[in-house]
Amino acid sequence: MYQDIQEILISEEEIEAKAAELGKAIAIDYKDLNPLCVCVLKGAVPFMADLIRKCEIPLEVDFMAVSSYGNSTKSSGVVRIIKDLEASVENRHVLIIEDIIDSGLTLSYLIDLLKGRKAASVKVVTMLNKPARRTVDLKPDYCGFDIPDAFVVGYGLDYAEKYRNLPYIGVLKEEVYCS
Ligand code: XMP
Ligand code: MG
Repeated sequence: MYQDIQEILISEEEIEAKAAELGKAIAIDYKDLNPLCVCVLKGAVPFMADLIRKCEIPLEVDFMAVSSYGNSTKSSGVVRIIKDLEASVENRHVLIIEDIIDSGLTLSYLIDLLKGRKAASVKVVTMLNKPARRTVDLKPDYCGFDIPDAFVVGYGLDYAEKYRNLPYIGVLKEEVYCS
């Protein structure tokens, strides 16, 4: 697993500090709002776990799974709901928790969906952002790191379901997905 990583882009320590910083900022902004935190499966699970423990206000969590990628490294632009929320978002302040925003297609679809279900507000926190690859106009409300256009894995992010358990975020060697 470790030998497939070309370079460590963001270390475990940097991730931990950033998750704490974002959690504290969100706690201030969402004080008394009892936000519904929507974790986008599967990639955002480690980030959600770190973030909410630094967000010391009453909040709720729910999960959603959507697919836009399959096992490829390029977005298909097609978003499919694989698992829907259990909670109603009506009149709730919703905070979507994402691992990475790439083209932005997945998130813009989710935001429209939750607004259509009459959420009181819909905002986005993402650990990683690849602004260079955006095809829709979308800016995260809270963002950990802007990263260059490279395929990254670790801290929840996968290639063909592997590498999610790496504690850091690393660039995958091209030969791993080009072979
Ligand atoms: P879009 O293009 O809709 O894509 O913003 C968001 C989803 O695509 C996946 N994604 C990645 N997964 N390394 C990954 O492991 C990457 O570099 C990468 N870029 C995009 C991810 O699932 C994200 O939620
Ligand atoms: Mg994702």
